[in-house]
Order: sequence, then structure tokens, then C-alpha cells
Amino acid sequence: MEREHFGSRMAVVMAMAGSAIGLGNIWRFPYIVGEYGGAAFILVYILAGIVLSLPIFFSEAIIGRSSRSNPFGAMAALAPDSGWKWLGLITVISPLMVLSYYSVVGGWSVEYLIKSVALQFTHSAPEEIPSFFDTFIDTKWQPLVMHLVFLAMVAGIVLGGVKKGIEKFSKITMPILFVLILLIVVFSVMLPGSGEGVKYLVKPDFSRLTGRGVIAAVGQSFYSLSLGVGAVLTYYSYVKRSEDIVVSGVTTAVFDLVFALLAGFAVMPAVFACGIEPDAGPGLVFKTLPFIFNKMGAESAWVSAFVSIVFFLAILVAALTSAISMMEVGVAYLSEEKNMSRKAATSIIFGFCLVVGAVCSLSSGVFNFFDHLCSDFLMIFGGLLFALFVGWKLSPSIARAELTNDGSLRFNSFCFKGIWFLIRYVAPIGVIAIFVASFF
Ligand code: PHE
Repeated sequence: MEREHFGSRMAVVMAMAGSAIGLGNIWRFPYIVGEYGGAAFILVYILAGIVLSLPIFFSEAIIGRSSRSNPFGAMAALAPDSGWKWLGLITVISPLMVLSYYSVVGGWSVEYLIKSVALQFTHSAPEEIPSFFDTFIDTKWQPLVMHLVFLAMVAGIVLGGVKKGIEKFSKITMPILFVLILLIVVFSVMLPGSGEGVKYLVKPDFSRLTGRGVIAAVGQSFYSLSLGVGAVLTYYSYVKRSEDIVVSGVTTAVFDLVFALLAGFAVMPAVFACGIEPDAGPGLVFKTLPFIFNKMGAESAWVSAFVSIVFFLAILVAALTSAISMMEVGVAYLSEEKNMSRKAATSIIFGFCLVVGAVCSLSSGVFNFFDHLCSDFLMIFGGLLFALFVGWKLSPSIARAELTNDGSLRFNSFCFKGIWFLIRYVAPIGVIAIFVASFF
């Protein structure tokens, strides 16, 4: 069977940015930026992105494109008869674990989009708003249904294949997503009293930038760039030989950062304008923001309805384009290693995530355990091993050939030594140091 390719650089970047930009950017980033010192945190976040995340991103891209295979097949091809195949296997399973609980939150965003369209935030009494979320979760069955709806959308896109599914969806929705978030930024900073929120994001407060903040910056950077779970690897296995890994990788990271900052400016000014505590955590999006939309409704029902619909639509789109990259890893594995059709592979992954996600949906303990296991452990560990594999196991000539397109990219050839140093030494040592530090 002929392996599919992304059609153009634009397609690669949109698909990669689609994977990177997700719930992590919209609810996690704004909240932890505030908690750990605003602009001071952002500086560390950018630094971590350059010296740790990008080298790991390149490592996954090198493995994916040189092997043209899913993570398991890639390890089997590049390091036959070695223990590395376990890394391949783990990174086939870990994105499915992420997908299981991620799609529960995706389901919440479907519900909240429906609530916005039904004008529930616009027309309710303010004191009712925060209880919406608990009432929704307490029904048990409603989040399950929404989880199913979200996963079905993800499966529907993945079923379309690399070009007609993933590429097409990302190319259409990613530009729209940027427009949506820009609209909200404009509304948010125009609210009276929003200035404090802007300050909260941009004023560097180094006193709040603790060791924990540094660890959080690295973790967020990994999560946001979808590292360590084989998603980058699998997408790059569909990237053409002629594409420039360094340029597409850096562009993806820049889009991801810009979007995270925009999400910060969409959320925090509104939070401050309404006199709400900025450290509401994950509840910020589903409890606090509807309250803000409701407040807007007191001024103008039209504005309230419009902003809430735009916001939850943005979350849904962002979550979908990330979720498809997680599902594609498993689908690529089953279709290539187990010779299944795309339809059969997608159905199996859909069923698996439906069941595991249902458990996460019903038990917040399991949900938190999965989130913790994946984002604090599997992603970091996976990313570290990918860098070690490329830096120490793979032949350097393969890495060089991939990053410089066999020497034809002059600028990349010039930078190769630097990138190689980051992959081989800086990223592994940095990640191990952060990992050890996180225990204290
Ligand atoms: N990067 C995504 C986000 O920010 C999450 C993700 C993790 C996507 C792992 C794919 C793989 O929400």
C-alpha cells in the first residue's frame, strides 16, 4: 500500500500546529503563567522550548521521516533486535491514554458550545452559572454522551486519511482558530478593568518564579508541543523528503507560542475585569469564563452569545486537531504492523478510548491519575528516550541527512553541529535534571 504524504509545507505546518495547539494552550497556559510570575515564566518557557523541546521535536521528526513508519515500526527498523522496540510500543500506547482523558474534556467543550448556542450563559442568573458544571458532571451520563460525540468526530476525521482527513481539516480550521482567538482577545482587553490582567501576564515577577515554576515551564512546553508520545514522530513519517524539518519545526513552535500568548490575553484580562481569582485552575474555562459571558449578557445579550459561542468553538476546534494526532499514532500502528484497514484500525482505537475515557469521565481520581501519569511522566520520559536514541544510538549520518536534506540545505548544514549538541547533551541532561528536581 502506498504511504500517504502531506501535500505541502503549509499542510505540514498546519497539521503540526493543529497537534500542538490544544487544550494545553487555552486552559493550562494562561493559568500557570499567572501562577508562576507572568513574563518571568514566559521567558523560562521560551528558553526551555529552545534548548529542550525543539531538540526533542527534531529527534522525533528524524526518527519518523527516516523510517516512514509508526513509532513501533520505526524502532524495529532503525534498531532491529534491540530493547528500543519497547520505547516504540510505549509511545504507541501513551497517546491513546492521553486521548482517553483528553476527549473527556473535549466532550465538555461540546456541551459548553451547545449551552452557548442555547443562550444558557446569556440568560441565566449569575449565581446559577458556576453550578452548571457540577450539575453536568453529576448526571454522569451527559459527559459520557459528549465524550462519545467528541471521539466520533475525531474518528470521523482520522478515517478520512492523512490527506483528505487530517490535512484538510487542519488546513481549514487552523486559520479560523487564530481568527476566533483574536476576536476574543479584542473583546477581552476592551472590558473596563482589563488592564490588571494584561499586567499580570506581562509584568515579570521573578519572586514568584520558583524552582517549581521552572519545572512547570518545561512540562508545559513538552505538553504543548505534543512531545514524547509519538505524535510528532508519526506526523513526520508523512512528511516528504524535500521538506525542511528545522523550518517546519521552528514554525510550529512559534505558532504554538503565539497562540498560547493570545489565549493568555483572551482569558486573563476578562478574568481581572470581572474581579475573579486568576488561579481557578482547570475550572477557569468551564466555571469562571461562563460567568464572564453572563456578565457581558447584562450589557448586551448579543455580545454575550457571540463571545461565548466563539470561545467554546475555538476550544472544540483546538481540541479536535490535537486529538486526531493522538489517534493517528494508534491507527498507523495497527494498519502497518497488524495489516488492518484504516477503518478497522480506527474502530478499534475508537472503542479502546471510548471505554478507558468513560472510566476517566466517571472517576475524577482516575482522570487525575491519567493526566499526571501522562503529562508528568510518560511524555517527559518518552521525550528523553527519543533524544537519547537519536543522539547516541542512531547513526549521526542519518540525523545529518534528515536535518540537512542530504546536505542540500546550506543553513541547516551550518547549524547542524549546534542542533546535534543540543540533542546529544543539553536536552537529555536538562530533562534528567528537571525530572530529578521535581522529586524535591
Ligand atoms: N499539544 C496538545 C495541547 O496542547 C496536547 C497533545 C499532547 C497533543 C500529546 C498530542 C499529543 O493540548
